[in-house]
Amino acid sequence: MSGMHVGIIMDGNGRWARSHGRPRWRGHLAGVDSVRDIVRGAPDLGVSTLTMYAFSSDNWKRPRGEVSRLFWLLREFCRRERAELIENGVRVTQVGRRDRIPASALAELDDTVRATAGGRRLQLRLAIDYSARWAIGAAAQEIAHLVASGDLRPDAITPETLNDQMTNGVPELDLIIRTAGEQRLSDFMLWEAAYAELYFTPILWPDFRREDLALALSEFGRRERRFGGVDTGDAAVQKLAAR
Ligand code: FPP
Repeated sequence: MSGMHVGIIMDGNGRWARSHGRPRWRGHLAGVDSVRDIVRGAPDLGVSTLTMYAFSSDNWKRPRGEVSRLFWLLREFCRRERAELIENGVRVTQVGRRDRIPASALAELDDTVRATAGGRRLQLRLAIDYSARWAIGAAAQEIAHLVASGDLRPDAITPETLNDQMTNGVPELDLIIRTAGEQRLSDFMLWEAAYAELYFTPILWPDFRREDLALALSEFGRRERRFGGVDTGDAAVQKLAAR
């Protein structure tokens, strides 16, 4: 797999519901249709890894009824989509904490992770009970254990050490999309976003479809990514750099 890695902060379900005169959870339900469409369309658009922010660790602050509906939706998604995910070569994994996910949702999620392990067209990483700061803390803990056991010298710790611990071989994030107008990362992939392009769209998540993903990808294709270096093909930049 050598396509792009795209992260999506799915936002605007509540606003979508309000604008349709429906309760908030109907927005989440409609959001699942968008998840399905994006997962179906992503491989043909050149995406090989997709990280979707399904439930942030901050989302526990929401009313209990909304939280349990979100996990119910997740459970149903895993159960109902499993066969199609396998057929389409989608491999599902989870990022985030596992210990607080309700047992019934976790069981369906784990079954889906196992059943789709052979998928090669698209890796779908579901960020559930995810917090980037928590993930960085967990990586630091792992490294501290290695130091405590004498397997790693403190002065051998480099950004690469942390990167290996954080990413576990998952390719760098190329593009992060956030829907519904807000322009912030909200504790999503803070380490992995170092060189990612950011794309913000006013479209509410339940209205976001593969055509909108295609638009985001074509905008990405027009951007120049220099990773802090210079584009040697650009004479003006070269001149500036030579000063
Ligand atoms: C943000 O909208 C969205 C979420 C907190 C949850 C996203 C979850 C889904 C799309 C459904 C379940 C996911 C999967 C993978 C099956 P918001 O409620 O913050 O919207 P608002 O800002 O307009 O209130």
